[in-house]
Amino acid sequence: MVSASIAPLFQPIQLGSLTLRNRIFMSALTRNRAVPTNSPNSVMLEHYRKRATSAGLIITEGVLITPQGSEWPHVSGIWNKEEVAGWKNITDAVHKEGSHIFAQLWHLGQVSHPDAPEQKEAGIPVYAPSAISARGGKFRFLSGQPGYVIPTAIDDPAELLDLFEKAATNAKEAGFDGVELHGANGYLIHQFLDSTSDARQDSWEVQ
Ligand SMILES: Cc1cc2nc3c(=O)[nH]c(=O)nc-3n(C[C@H](O)[C@H](O)[C@H](O)COP(=O)(O)O)c2cc1C
Repeated sequence: MVSASIAPLFQPIQLGSLTLRNRIFMSALTRNRAVPTNSPNSVMLEHYRKRATSAGLIITEGVLITPQGSEWPHVSGIWNKEEVAGWKNITDAVHKEGSHIFAQLWHLGQVSHPDAPEQKEAGIPVYAPSAISARGGKFRFLSGQPGYVIPTAIDDPAELLDLFEKAATNAKEAGFDGVELHGANGYLIHQFLDSTSDARQDSWEVQ
């Protein structure tokens, strides 16, 4: 028996074009289960399927939009076909349970590490708004457990918009109902909004 005070939680709600079966939303939770790396697997499928039995909307863990050296190994991604196929299995299972799911799109910016496997494989520098290092950092899986590094200031940040656009297109192909841009916690979008990480003097300057 649901008490009257919390009964509205279990009522459907309209979110844009989506009718969600209740108002219980699962917030983004990084789990580091994309073993060996970046592709959603059967363990993740079961994780999301179980939660889809009760949640009205699930926001996924942060999903990398391009190969980057994250602070934890086994983070999921959505830049290649294998990853899109892995997510499609998950979105299908979530929909079958009557729930909905958004992908949280994530770019780490200055808090990536150049020696992390994904970053090395990608062969690209750690890009950020400006060549300013974040303080701290613990890459426990890297030898010597290094901290954050001074990143490379990206010449044209519009390239980053293209990465987000491509990831959103991939999310659509993977069957997601929407995306959420990870704009907090010191990651890329936040870095562009904060003068301690963005010292640019062009149109990307912090206002
Ligand atoms: C293990 C763990 C992983 C998390 N991963 C993410 C994440 O990938 N993206 C994100 O935006 N927030 C992440 N968060 C933050 C949560 O989504 C949530 O905002 C936070 O736990 C505060 O929720 P509360 O106010 O209900 O305690 C994470 C939190 C925890 C504990």
